[in-house]
Amino acid sequence: MKHQSSDLEQLIRDLPKAELHVHIEGTLEPELLCEMARRNHLTLRFATVGELRQAYRFHNLQSFLDIYYEGTRALLSEQDFFDLTWAYLERAAQQHVRHAEIFFDPQAHTGRGIPFETVIRGIHRALEEAIPRLSISSNLIMCFLRHLSAEAAMRTLEASLPFKDWIAAVGLDSSELGHPPEKFVTVFQRARAAGYLTVAHAGEEGPLDYIRQALDLLKVSRIDHGVRCLEDPELVQRLASERIPLTVCPLSNVKLCVFKSLEDHNLKKLLDLGLCVTVNSDDPAYFGGYITENLLASQKALGLTRHDLYMLAKNAFEASFLGAGEKQRFIAELDRFMQAHLG
Ligand code: ADE
Ligand code: ZN
Repeated sequence: MKHQSSDLEQLIRDLPKAELHVHIEGTLEPELLCEMARRNHLTLRFATVGELRQAYRFHNLQSFLDIYYEGTRALLSEQDFFDLTWAYLERAAQQHVRHAEIFFDPQAHTGRGIPFETVIRGIHRALEEAIPRLSISSNLIMCFLRHLSAEAAMRTLEASLPFKDWIAAVGLDSSELGHPPEKFVTVFQRARAAGYLTVAHAGEEGPLDYIRQALDLLKVSRIDHGVRCLEDPELVQRLASERIPLTVCPLSNVKLCVFKSLEDHNLKKLLDLGLCVTVNSDDPAYFGGYITENLLASQKALGLTRHDLYMLAKNAFEASFLGAGEKQRFIAELDRFMQAHLG
């Protein structure tokens, strides 16, 4: 059956969703950033919301990270971390996100003298409140900043242990080039021994071999981005047969010049190869859209079909860190939704 693009647009908006790749610090909208700077008596390099938005033009990952870390400086109190997380969750709920797995970067804060406890207590309280108030379940993923040392990552891991029950997994983010997964083998070993699952950003800007290292050395359950995997058919075969999920972030990839345009993005190819691909927003306040906008823009640019959209939504529940029963419940909800929207 042929579908009108307006049907698909409504389908995308209403689809029950899981988001697996979103940095909570990357959801800090300019308005909230300015409000926090004001209440924390900080002076920003950019005086207005408009000036901030103007600065959100990037030519690679590093040019973005410089602005992203600058933004995190507005976050000081537990309430700031609560407000940041709550604002994301409210937006996500409006977009029918039913489950979110959220990264946070403790070192971006502890490095400025904010206690680990302040950060995680604020985020955790919002995640807990979202269960009854917004009907969103979640998992928290603690990322290590790969441009810092393995020793600093190990200290962060130790600081997290009293809050272990609030954290599902550890991840690896920040400047990829020159900071291979192998740098963090010992930290990830210790994290797994403490009961954490593992993920890593790999193959976003960095080489293909970082994807292999993340799998073989860090024993990751998912690859964040991973879009460069198509350079090696053998690796693609492995990702397919082991059903290793890729958390792809289309608008991010265009903003950071990983692809020239969304029309050039390999999302559809990855799907057609049968990989467990998901669509996510990464740093939505900086890249021009949350999960729905990522899906809408990708559908338009790549001609995604109703079946593609169903697979993306289903893959996300399957690739989540939910238990088998919860995954089944969400996928049954998705199936009922698709049945009811035959359009
Ligand atoms: N930190 C926040 N967003 C990131 C991204 N897209 N890649 C690496 N580190 C990040
Ligand atoms: Zn990311």
